[in-house]
Amino acid sequence: MHILHTIREARDLITHARTEGKSIGLVPTMGYFHEGHLSLMRQARRDNDLVVVSLFVNPIQFGPGEDFREYPRDLDRDARMAEEVGVDLVFNPSVEEMYPEGYNTYAAVEKLAEGLCGAFRPGHFRGVTTVVLKLFNIVQPDRAYFGRKDYQQLKVIERMAKDLNVPVEVIGMPTVREPDGLAMSSRNMYLDPEERRAALVLSKSLKYAQDLLNEGVSSAKELKKRVETFIRQEPLARIDYVEIVNPDTLERLETIEDKALIALAVKIGVTRLIDNAILTR
Ligand code: PAJ
Repeated sequence: MHILHTIREARDLITHARTEGKSIGLVPTMGYFHEGHLSLMRQARRDNDLVVVSLFVNPIQFGPGEDFREYPRDLDRDARMAEEVGVDLVFNPSVEEMYPEGYNTYAAVEKLAEGLCGAFRPGHFRGVTTVVLKLFNIVQPDRAYFGRKDYQQLKVIERMAKDLNVPVEVIGMPTVREPDGLAMSSRNMYLDPEERRAALVLSKSLKYAQDLLNEGVSSAKELKKRVETFIRQEPLARIDYVEIVNPDTLERLETIEDKALIALAVKIGVTRLIDNAILTR
């Protein structure tokens, strides 16, 4: 497995593979791998001849006061894990390599990026779409893999690729969870044991929402209220949002007809966690 830090070296290796007719899969990440990341890499391995994983903690998607500095980093551990699942290239550029002096261009999706996390993290999705578009241009993958754990991110990237005519197939992958239901996240390592227990309230509240729907509660307003009350029973939890939206447009729903997305962001102590589920009637 190769580990490369410059765009030039990565391009050379990838161009060589492409001229040999190889298909290319890209898994963009910020590192500190867990089974969620590995599931994307395994799928990329099955679908493509060359598997590229980018590992870059992207400063422009973090707001002031967010955890850019604290974000966990361990290249050696990540490289070992990537190699084990058969990744060919880990592309690990520096901040200066991606955003050199004078950098001044950004890609932003409008409507889809405005609600949910977009409302609480101004500029976040603009940072995500900018770095992902740069990675698409650097790697020129046939396929790129993203987790549905970050559902809004997946939708925003699908839109960006479509609108800007990027010839890539964007593939969404299921959320990988701990045995007790907590969605895997690099940020789970911030949780102390008490918070780790409290964090279960996210996945439990999603299950509770489906139970309520099964019992016939189909008003989004009513469902949202009852889920919020459920989450507030956990003293360590503070709600950023609970929203019930159309899974394609991410627009708020009044009533759940057949399918809806429930998305939530909850702070457990200082750690902000997100989770979501498709509710079906
Ligand atoms: P990161 O949080 O490292 O996640 C990398 C990819 O792994 C994303 O597509 C994310 O949705 C997916 N992922 C994370 N947790 C998952 C889980 N429990 N199950 C399945 N997939 C999971 O998301 C980012 O990085 C960045 O915003 C990035 C797209 C790399 C742009 O900087």
